Amino acid sequence: MIILGIESSCDETAAALVEEGRRILSGAVASQIAVHGPFGGVVPELASRKHVEAILVVIEKALKEAGVTVDEVDAIAVTQGPGLVGSLLVGISAAKALSYSLGKPLIGVNHLEAHIHAAFIEDEPIEEPAVCLVVSGGHTALYYMESSDSRPHYLGGTLDDAAGEAFDKVAKLLGLGYPGGVVIDRLSVSGNPEAFDFPRAYLGRDSFDFSFSGLKTAVANFVRKFGNPALEGEVPYRVEDLVASFQEAVVDVLVDKTTAAAVHHGVKHVIVVGGVAANRRLRERFAEASIEKGWTLHIPPVSLCTDNAVMVAAAGYAVWKRQGFVKDPLSLDAVSRWL
Ligand code: KG4
Ligand code: ZN
Repeated sequence: MIILGIESSCDETAAALVEEGRRILSGAVASQIAVHGPFGGVVPELASRKHVEAILVVIEKALKEAGVTVDEVDAIAVTQGPGLVGSLLVGISAAKALSYSLGKPLIGVNHLEAHIHAAFIEDEPIEEPAVCLVVSGGHTALYYMESSDSRPHYLGGTLDDAAGEAFDKVAKLLGLGYPGGVVIDRLSVSGNPEAFDFPRAYLGRDSFDFSFSGLKTAVANFVRKFGNPALEGEVPYRVEDLVASFQEAVVDVLVDKTTAAAVHHGVKHVIVVGGVAANRRLRERFAEASIEKGWTLHIPPVSLCTDNAVMVAAAGYAVWKRQGFVKDPLSLDAVSRWL
């Protein structure tokens, strides 16, 4: 079964062809980083317009790269939510149009479930329970799953900023560019993560919720007191040390909470996905925790951590196996909030 995946929930327009949910035939991504960069974050109206420009280009590119004709596609999987409604509607409209005109069945995919499937592409799915951390620019949440193909159950999530959003906001404050996670990751390599002690919000021993706004405020207070490189150029501390210390605080909370959830549910498998899962320090710390706790760690290659359509096609296959195709494709609608 060849599935065409389509993704347009945020600032990447993407299309991909995946066979049997795991074998990548092609993947095309049109990134809007250059468009949103000057604003230090995604501007929804600009995002929708750029999706309109790119959607057919990426679909054609994915088909060409795979050497597959549109007739050979068995089904179309599209990100239905959560995300920016105006952006989601671009991918959904394209998917509906293709489905209607070509008579191809449609599958609506949850973007967070799609991120999870990125961990199993070109790899064996797991039949045992797992705890999953989805950590991206829009989401930071923990899920419990009976197996890699089953529906994720929400355990907890952020009460304010997502971890990626905290990276982006801190980078913006310091004038480091967008997306902030990538820049902070790179600068932190030459920084001391113990230089400054920033707060870690645990919200109680049994809570699987997260909060990153206090940490963000602590960094803002720090630069107000000691100087901001974005405003003053010269500052009496190393920016590398500041961002490495910030990053360490984020990573500590993500690793500790995931560990607590894994212990609580007695699982042997831990899945870490989403844009922030590309982070070097996070990957290193989860690798260490896995050895210590005896888990099998499932983490996608860096290229499949940030938004892409390969993961949408892969998740589409699992959703189809679970619940079949959408009964009335033209009625498929965008869902802005969806756990
Ligand atoms: O999954 P994604 O592409 O989009 C959402 O669904 O949100 O994630 C984008 C987020 C951004 O906040 C970006 O700063 C963050 O992932 N990110 C990183 C890294 N690469 C991307 N954060 C930390 N370290 C990275 N290497
Ligand atoms: Zn995403």
